[in-house]
Amino acid sequence: MDKNDLIALAVNAMQTAYAPYSGFTVGAALETADGTVYTGCNIENASFTPTVCAERVAFFQAVRDGHRAFRQLAVAGGKGGLLTSFTPPCGVCRQVMREFCTDDFPVYLYDGETIRETTLGALLPLSFGPDNVGKQED
Ligand code: THU
Repeated sequence: MDKNDLIALAVNAMQTAYAPYSGFTVGAALETADGTVYTGCNIENASFTPTVCAERVAFFQAVRDGHRAFRQLAVAGGKGGLLTSFTPPCGVCRQVMREFCTDDFPVYLYDGETIRETTLGALLPLSFGPDNVGKQED
């Protein structure tokens, strides 16, 4: 899928965010290797720590459906649903991505005006991944 279309889906997914505590809504759009697209939004919780980011919602839904290979990810977010700056994935989401993606995995960030293209390797250098542990099965 064209990256502009993927970004548009991420921006659209911001609308379903449940973020009554931070007021910061995030949307993510993840394309799998077979071209299926999963979107995610952040889902907050009164107890705070159960809060889950948009990126993980997208990844976990895709994995639940049997996907293990991914092409690209777009992320957009902002306070009050307004896009004013880039929303880079948090550290936990970067590690979740690392489970299924390699260093060259493209990540697009969008601030409402500009697309910033980066990779998982740039976001999470010298990472600890499945090979370090010796994965037993796919
Ligand atoms: N958040 C995401 O959904 N993705 C990110 O990459 C960064 C942070 C969410 C978590 C929380 O609901 C809100 O943004 C403020 O941290």
